[in-house]
Amino acid sequence: MSAQRDGFSSTFGVLAATLGSAVGLGNIWKVPYLTGANGGAGFLLLYLLATLVVGLPVMIAEITIGRAARTDPVGAFTKLAPVRRPWWVIGVSGTLAAFLIMAFYSEVAAWVFAYVAKAVAGGLLSTDPKTAAAIFSKLVSDPAQALFWQWVVLLCVGGVILMGVSKGIEAVTKKLMPILFLLLVAIGIRGLTLPGAVAGLEFLFRPDFSKLTPAVALVALGLAFFKLSIGMGTMVTYGSYFRADQDIPATALRVMLADLVVSLLAGIAIFPAVFAFGFKPEAGPSLVFITIPAVFASMPGGAIVMVAFFVLTAVAAMGAMLSLVEVPVAVLAERFEISRRRALLIALAGIAGLGVFAALAQSRTADWKLFGLNPFDLFDFLSSNILLPAGGILICAFAAWEWGRQNFEAELGRGSPPRKWVFAALTVLMRYVSPLLIGVVMLKGLGLF
Ligand code: TRP
Repeated sequence: MSAQRDGFSSTFGVLAATLGSAVGLGNIWKVPYLTGANGGAGFLLLYLLATLVVGLPVMIAEITIGRAARTDPVGAFTKLAPVRRPWWVIGVSGTLAAFLIMAFYSEVAAWVFAYVAKAVAGGLLSTDPKTAAAIFSKLVSDPAQALFWQWVVLLCVGGVILMGVSKGIEAVTKKLMPILFLLLVAIGIRGLTLPGAVAGLEFLFRPDFSKLTPAVALVALGLAFFKLSIGMGTMVTYGSYFRADQDIPATALRVMLADLVVSLLAGIAIFPAVFAFGFKPEAGPSLVFITIPAVFASMPGGAIVMVAFFVLTAVAAMGAMLSLVEVPVAVLAERFEISRRRALLIALAGIAGLGVFAALAQSRTADWKLFGLNPFDLFDFLSSNILLPAGGILICAFAAWEWGRQNFEAELGRGSPPRKWVFAALTVLMRYVSPLLIGVVMLKGLGLF
């Protein structure tokens, strides 16, 4: 461990940073579009189940491992393993996942940035589904715009980290996120008062189980990992910055609940409008971008509020991206003993290189298909549905079997020891329930069994 290793300074700071990683485009973009595409309430229910039974234990395991090791996710598993076995593959696959996720995530952030510009110029106000869809598809199918905005995003991420203002961003995030929250409430209220809004609520909260297939279950599981930023070492890295006396289960629980509330608010903001204006819930990744402007178009002062909405979404995306990029940066810097600056440049170059394929997935690379998926969808599928859940199995196995119950409980119990039943429940979940559930859902979801 290097002498100048940074850390979080207060309990609230830890909570805020962890929440800053979890809350992002996942809540505003991914949860609504996947819920819409997979039949609504039934999918949400599966996602909730996956979060509770799998997400929470994996998150706690990751943070605990990180705090015990106090190093990057490749080094952590080597350091804690009692005998030399290649557990560091978890960190390597996590680093790979970080690149894949950033490649498409930075493009979604690019659309958000572009929409900030469009909202300022006043070109988005329409409640007509056709017009809204045309504006979006014009943006994403133009290679120049798609790449330009992705590079703006990556430059911003790099700039924030290089200028060392990531602490500043944390402070900004802390102040701005409550505003995003209130804005979502306001949009939700506006949405609920639209004629026809009830259909949206029914879609969100009345389950229709006929839509649920093994493949859908895998998507819900992958979403739980993606939402909580787990399965690839982000939480190991953040855990390594945790204070020794931090109550890890309580922190994880709070982050999970707060994150869930933001996702549900986004759903309530979007689905009533989807049905009121005649959009299609299964529109896919474009859903937020075409629906949200329609709500604003039908709202007094909507033009200004819309700018605020996309700016705040961009800020939330920045917080999440900082935590994604932190994994390859920590691994490169601490494994190869290079400066964080150089590690960052290598990471960003890699992301930009891979990101081109995702950025052009609606134009030049639209027909470059593997397993029937274009590069954007492929990167998303490989990371969320394969690498993160597989990482989850290995993290549970490592914490509960290899590192061992005693070490795990000793680290978890430092400072503020959780109650006995928490230990017992976590052990059962990490040893048997989570790995088995992930394994079965993966095999079934991929049609391998
Ligand atoms: N959780 C973030 C979101 O919902 C995305 C994210 C940040 C992430 N860090 C991660 C996903 C690490 C997986 C792994 O937007």
